[in-house]
Amino acid sequence: MRKPFMAGNWKLCKNAEETRAFFEEFKPLVADVEDVDIALAPTYTSLHAAADALRGTTIALAAQNIFWEAEGAYTGEIAPGMLCEVGCRYVIIGHSERRQYFSETDETVNRRLKAALGAGLDPIFCVGERIEQRRAGETMAVVEEQIRLGLEGIGAEVPPRIVIAYEPVWAIGTGETATPAQAQEVHRFIRERIASLWGDDAAGATRIQYGGSVKPENVDELMAEPDVDGALVGGASLKAASFARIVKFKK
Ligand code: PGA
Repeated sequence: MRKPFMAGNWKLCKNAEETRAFFEEFKPLVADVEDVDIALAPTYTSLHAAADALRGTTIALAAQNIFWEAEGAYTGEIAPGMLCEVGCRYVIIGHSERRQYFSETDETVNRRLKAALGAGLDPIFCVGERIEQRRAGETMAVVEEQIRLGLEGIGAEVPPRIVIAYEPVWAIGTGETATPAQAQEVHRFIRERIASLWGDDAAGATRIQYGGSVKPENVDELMAEPDVDGALVGGASLKAASFARIVKFKK
């Protein structure tokens, strides 16, 4: 019922030339994939090169962030309409690196989510606890608050346009992955929270990705969990063969 969704987050990696080279290798590897949605999020300056490379394919383009104003005196920011113009379908919002290094809060995440939806972009909304919060038994409370504040004032849509990415901060870029059972426990909790906000139909149709050291070696067991609907992949999305293997996870 929920189509699996694999998204690659390239963070601050790959210039335009490297982006073109990646897609030359990646496109033939996934040309036969129809039952999984695929998106890649390059840096802003590589979006054009990626859009050119992806023309005529079903691979979608994503941005890594968005600002909420359409234009004005906001040095260094990129407006929602600009992401649409370059061909983005998705935008990652509230990634833990944005929260940690760039002072993003649940309130600014909420503004970005609204701006993305208003512009016709589908958000990939990231939530997840830090290691000390997990050790203190606060995982569910942290995730619940991020969801409640992040989605404040945003109503249900069926089919839902917001994808939620559960990314435990301690598993990002560390090689340490949540076990499938740990991921499933939080994913089920997130779906319950969405059900209480938006109702069962929207919750049942909302895709929840897992993120944090997903790689070819662990994707199959993560995807076997009933509430894991895809992955948001950092490091392992930088190599065409490895991301293609993740897209082609074994069912
Ligand atoms: P990782 O990053 O796969 O390199 O752990 C995931 C993410 O930050 O989205």
